[in-house]
Amino acid sequence: MNILVTGGAGYIGSHCCAQLIAAGHRPFILDNFSNAKLAVVDHIERVAGTRPRWLRGDVRDAALVTALLRDEGIEAVIHFVGLKAVGESVQQPLAYYDNNVQGSLVLLQAMRETGVRTLVFSSSATVYSASDRMPLREDAPTSATSPYGRSKLMVEHVLADLAAADPAMSLTALRYFNPVGAHPSGLLGEDPEGPLNNLMPFLAQVAVGRRNQLAVFGNDYPTPDGTGVRDYIHVLDLADGHLAALNHAHGRPGLHVFNLGSGQGHSVLALIAAFGQACGRELPYTIAPRRAGDLAAYWADPAKAERMLGWRVRRSLAEMCADTWHWQSTHPNGYSS
Ligand code: NAD
Ligand code: UFG
Repeated sequence: MNILVTGGAGYIGSHCCAQLIAAGHRPFILDNFSNAKLAVVDHIERVAGTRPRWLRGDVRDAALVTALLRDEGIEAVIHFVGLKAVGESVQQPLAYYDNNVQGSLVLLQAMRETGVRTLVFSSSATVYSASDRMPLREDAPTSATSPYGRSKLMVEHVLADLAAADPAMSLTALRYFNPVGAHPSGLLGEDPEGPLNNLMPFLAQVAVGRRNQLAVFGNDYPTPDGTGVRDYIHVLDLADGHLAALNHAHGRPGLHVFNLGSGQGHSVLALIAAFGQACGRELPYTIAPRRAGDLAAYWADPAKAERMLGWRVRRSLAEMCADTWHWQSTHPNGYSS
């Protein structure tokens, strides 16, 4: 299939493009490179053996998106575009609603105009309400506590309303848990700019010597070792989940919602230990206060995706750390190195 991949030069999108090419699809990347480097396209080509078509442009540009869908013979869209830093979304809510919600509206409108009926959307586990009942199933209550989370939930509501109004559309929301890891080739990986928010890239930068030590945000949570527990998923398993979702969507109109997670929780201390194994030395850390807004523990029930998509994770926490370390140690400064 010819597949428009918005945000395809980003962390998850680039891995997905490599897997799409490997599966025989033809991805077309639309990215404004606000959070990606041009070199990513070369790296996808080196990994996949085929250069993806690409265009620098903004998903909020209705004329551009409509022309692309029409001229490139697009049959389905995977919509990765989004701003994703929870704290920043509190400071800049309008930027988040504009990019994440308005961008999705423009894309959906263009799809309707051009008769492209299949969309796979990057949602997030952050749409689930705080709960003590684990694992989280897709029918668990939703609510969001940050503009970022609300932007994802709003788009899910838009998809539900559109699926009800237009019986030809096939709209899939994939709720990612915590994507980590890198391509095992060492050629694709996460290359964050600005302040580091997430645990795995921070650990990788400590391991490679760009940071002195990790601050563990709280060790007094009601979890086995007191630190936060999350469901980490290898980015290639996540990418494969998109392929499975596309296959499922074909000929199945309606709204489809799936968790993409492993079903297993790992603590911050467990991740530090696993990364230490991967890089061959103990990584220094201190205990710091809890981070505002963090939950103690949550993980996915991935049974629906296994049952209906025939998909489940295949890669272990050790592989997530080993592949991250391979990428970081060979590219200490990301795509700039
Ligand atoms: P990323 O920032 O690496 O990728 C997003 C890409 O979109 C970037 O290449 C950026 O340049 C591009 N972009 C941003 N705004 C654009 C616009 N208006 N027009 C065109 N391109 C634009 O992020 P990622 O980690 O790959 O995440 C992809 C999606 O998955 C996002 O929607 C994110 O909210 C969601 N998600 C990510 C995580 C995570 O932990 N990484 C977890 C849950 C959900
Ligand atoms: N943590 C630390 N130190 C750090 C960074 C994180 O101890 O320097 C801890 C956090 O407190 C948490 C765990 O590591 O317990 C994971 O934190 P991340 O920031 O890596 O990930 P989050 O679970 O907070 O959030 C991520 C994405 C969100 C997304 C969510 C979906 O950042 O965008 O997963 O589950 F919505």
